[in-house]
Formats: sequence, structure tokens, C-alpha cells
Amino acid sequence: MWRDFRKFVAEIERRGDAMVVEGADCDLEIGTLTELMCERRGPMLLFDRINGHPPGYRIAAKPYSTPARTAIALDLPVEASPFEMFKVWRERMQDFRPVPPREVSTGGVMENVMEGADVDLTRFPTPKWHERDGGPYIGTGCAVITSDPEEHWVNVGTYRSMIHDPKTLGMHITPFHHGALHVRKWWSQGKPAPMVVAIATEPYVFLASTNGVPWGTNEYQYAGFAKGEPIDVICGPRTGLPMPATAEVLIEGEMPPPSEVARLEGPFGEYTGYYAGGEQMAPVMRVHAIYHRSDPLLHGEPPLKPPIDTLACPPAGAIHAVWDGLEKSGIPGIRGVYALNTGGGLTTVVAIRQQYAGHARQAARVASGLMHSMCRMMIVVDDDIDPSDPEDVLWAIATRTDPETAFEIQRDCPSSPLDPMIRPERKKGATVSSRALIVACRPWEWRDEFPPVNRSSDEQRRRVREKWAPLFQDPVGRSG
Ligand SMILES: Cc1cc2nc3c(=O)[nH]c(=O)nc-3n(C[C@H](O)[C@H](O)[C@H](O)COP(=O)(O)O)c2cc1C
Repeated sequence: MWRDFRKFVAEIERRGDAMVVEGADCDLEIGTLTELMCERRGPMLLFDRINGHPPGYRIAAKPYSTPARTAIALDLPVEASPFEMFKVWRERMQDFRPVPPREVSTGGVMENVMEGADVDLTRFPTPKWHERDGGPYIGTGCAVITSDPEEHWVNVGTYRSMIHDPKTLGMHITPFHHGALHVRKWWSQGKPAPMVVAIATEPYVFLASTNGVPWGTNEYQYAGFAKGEPIDVICGPRTGLPMPATAEVLIEGEMPPPSEVARLEGPFGEYTGYYAGGEQMAPVMRVHAIYHRSDPLLHGEPPLKPPIDTLACPPAGAIHAVWDGLEKSGIPGIRGVYALNTGGGLTTVVAIRQQYAGHARQAARVASGLMHSMCRMMIVVDDDIDPSDPEDVLWAIATRTDPETAFEIQRDCPSSPLDPMIRPERKKGATVSSRALIVACRPWEWRDEFPPVNRSSDEQRRRVREKWAPLFQDPVGRSG
């Protein structure tokens, strides 16, 4: 369990899965290096001596993008497949009860304070990550803290934040996300919304802030339960908001209504692999104070073209909700739910043990109804298929579907302004899209006559492997 982000990063270094890069430039170089290294599933890059910035001002890029690193961050089995990891996570969160945060008087993040005229966001190395980005984005793996002025609860959500100038951040918050709903409530009272952006939080806080926990639930409580102890927070001197005490950087300020000030935000390379949200007028955050640890270690989490993940195992809320919802609806035989395009849920897979005629299609329809965000395909597979393995899933689609009957199209399903298939002029209106339900299961009616799979049985494989063990040893002597 990691008390802060830098301890987690230090552990990745200790395990030899990090590479220090010195002398790189924020203008596209750090972004492209990160992309190239992630594509080859290489070590986490740790940028230091970044051009124009003091040594010790570092960026850890894509720290959670391999299953092993996600497992280390969240205390999950390191050798397990992403699906196995997800099952362990789900089991752990099954009895969720809120663990309230613990207020502490101070933390390492208060070592350095910039206030008033001294506030300067540009002191931190902030990459322009992708070639067409509208500017440098300091908030990629951030946690944005807001409060509900009517119901008096706190939300923590990850929303991208771009530096407009030394004292102003631009932000993209999807209209239905809780942070956006909070902010609008402040505006309807004629007040700017108090706000804190935390950079490089401890892993459980980051996870919670990217997770769709229900309306009214404070993500600190979720993170505290996952961690097994309360999250330490400091009361924001200017906003009163609880700020994560172990973060590396805290940016405190307020977001006035767009009628008062709005600036162009975006484009930004998004998790779908496109710049689909484009450039839009968006509200800004006026920064009143910045607190940071000495030699701050920033968290860089640029979305990259799939299949590169943010979190290599998705304990993501939407998928939880679909799995839980299927079970609660009484549909039997649910063996797993997994989002193949992590974070986006563009392709969601449900594995079931079929028990009656129509069971698989029923599961597909109910699962689709439970999916509130962008989702292009809802695929149902038999339980011999690993729903987290895209190759296994594609094999099932190729060999267990007759497209004429297996594919069903649903119209007008909820989508998002980031949907690359919604034309720009429609993005201001209804962001809906159609969705394919694909039943890629052995046909129930003749399942017993369906051709058997030609993979050797586990017993046969074990016997042969034991007898021929030397053939399966790699050069350093591990048996493969
Ligand atoms: C790395 C990462 C970046 C994200 N960026 C954004 C973003 O810019 N805007 C947004 O609205 N949601 C973004 N999300 C999704 C939200 O953080 C996520 O849906 C979260 O559950 C929203 O929390 P809320 O419902 O409490 O507002 C991002 C998620 C991840 C994992």
C-alpha cells in the first residue's frame, strides 16, 4: 500500500521497470517518447532535467499502463491476467462501506506555497503531449475536487486541464460528470465554483477519481475503503475543500460561470485514439494559490491510441455497474464483464454460462441498458472465452456468430461529445449513437452438436509438458 505517488514510483524503479530520461523537451518530445515506449510495452519513463526546468522537477509518464504496474499500485496479484485482477478487485470492493477522509493539519505538499502575484503554473514542466493538442496539459492524471453547494458533499473526478497562462487553467468536464453538475449548481446561485486540482495523488485516490462512483458518494470514502485506511486531507485555505495531503501539487482556485469568462479548450488527443472533442469554448479555473512538494514529481497520463491503456486492469465503475446490474436483475450464469478498450468501454464483453434459449441475447440487451456511457459493441461470449483477451473474443465472434442473426442494432444509445462518429455539428445537440449487440456464443439449440475445440485438454498438456519439460525452458532456465 503506497502512502503517496512517489513511493509507488520508487517501487517501480526498485523493480527495474522504470527508465530515467534526462534532457527531453516538453514540446512534443516527452509525449512522443511516452507513446513510443508504451507501444513497445517498455518501462515507465521518468523524465528529469527537463529542458528549461530545474533538476528534480520530474514527470512519471503512464505509470499504470501495464498489468504488472497496475497490480503493484492497487495491491493486486502481479502475475494474474487483467481479468483475474479485476475479479480480485471486484471481490474486494463487494462490501463497500464509506471510509471518511481524515483531516490533517499539513503535509509535504505545503512545503512550497505560491499565492497572489506569485502564482505561476508554468514553473512546472508541462508537456504538449500530442501534435494537435491546443496547449500544454498539466492535468492528465489529475484529481479535481468540487463540492455540492446544496447537498454539501465532495466529489473527486479526473478532468483534463490545460494551461492557458500562468494563473488560468482550461478544463474539459463532460456535462453529465459530477464535477460539472456541482459547478453548475454554484453558478445557478450566482457564485464561482470553488475548485482544487490535485496532481500526482496516491494511487487509490487517482483510481477513485477516474471511477464512476454513485452520485452523492465522496470518492475519498471509496479510496479509503479500497486502501483500508482513511485518506489524509488538508482543508484548503482558500476554498475549504479537502485537498489530498499526499499529492505532489495542489492548485486551488475557482471556476466562474462561462458568461463571465470562457476560453478555447482543446483539441486534445483522447482515449478513443482521436481528437474528436475538437476545440470548444469552455469555462476556466482562476488559480489563487499553488502548493507543491520540493522537487515535485508530476503524473503524466496522456491518453494514447488504443490498445494502450490508462489502467491496464479496469476496476472502472461503468463495468462494475454492468456486472452488478446483470446479477441484480436475476440473470444467471454471469461469469465476467470486461471493457476491452479500457476507460472508454467502447467494446464491452460479457462472459456467461448459457442456461436456456435466449439467455445470451437477454444478457446482451440488459447489459446494454446498464451502460450509461459511450459503447459501440456489447458482446456476449461463452465462459470458455477470456473476456479480457481481445484475440479470444475475436475468435469467438469469427467462429460462433452468423451475422444475420447474431448482430442486433440498437438506436439512440447514450454517447459522448468525444464520440468520433458523431459529426461536429451534432455535438452540441443530442450525443447519441447506435450500438451493436453481438451474441458470439455456441447456438443454444444445437450446442451439443457444435464442433469441439481442438485445443488439447489441460490433462494432456500437463502430461506432455512434464515429460518434455526441457523444451519449455527459456534461456535463463525458467519454465515457460
Ligand atoms: C486518464 C483519464 C482522463 C480522463 N479525462 C476526463 C476529462 O478530461 N473529462 C471528463 O469529463 N472525464 C474524464 N475522464 C473520465 C472521468 O474521470 C470519469 O468518468 C470519472 O468517473 C468522472 O467522475 P465523476 O462522475 O465523479 O465526475 C478521464 C478518465 C481517465 C481515466
